[in-house]
Amino acid sequence: MASFTLTTGEKCDDYETPPNAFEMLLPYIDTSNIVYDPFYCNGLAKQFLNNIGYKNVIHNDENFYANWSKYKFDCIITNPPYSSKVQVFKELYKIDKPFALLVPVSTITTNFLQNIFKYDLDKIGMIIPPKRIHFIKNGVQSNRNWFDVVWITYKIKLPSPITFC
Ligand SMILES: C[S@@+](CC[C@H](N)C(=O)[O-])C[C@H]1O[C@@H](n2cnc3c(N)ncnc32)[C@H](O)[C@@H]1O
Repeated sequence: MASFTLTTGEKCDDYETPPNAFEMLLPYIDTSNIVYDPFYCNGLAKQFLNNIGYKNVIHNDENFYANWSKYKFDCIITNPPYSSKVQVFKELYKIDKPFALLVPVSTITTNFLQNIFKYDLDKIGMIIPPKRIHFIKNGVQSNRNWFDVVWITYKIKLPSPITFC
């Protein structure tokens, strides 16, 4: 387990994204982009993103808030720690770069999302997976997941604000 990850102590945060979830972004985020995934867990995301064509990926085991400003990147692709979703979205709004965040579908109806992005709601989009995503915990992919997730996007050109895969 990664060192920074251990210090957060939030067990529900330690799930990693499987390749098929990242593949849903390929039609909308060009592989030439420098991609930043600030939330490390065991670091699988970099390997999976590389394998599907994103060769420039920044993915390090460190505190996002203290370190993001030292990088140059085109967009953020990540499955964030759900225990601090509000803080993550606030920071991303400040950073103002295109992003795709894999979050529980209920996020879309929250007041916090609407409040943070109230002047830019037209820049928000949603990519809906064709089926439930099975996350990876300690290197093992689960065969069930008890909640639905969607990609919430910002400043990413989609065919329509709600895009079905
Ligand atoms: C849901 S996992 C996702 C890992 C990876 N982004 C992926 O998509 O597979 C989120 C990770 O972020 C870590 N984390 C929590 N707060 C963080 C922070 N402030 N900075 C960096 N990582 C953090 C958690 O410990 C957890 O391991």
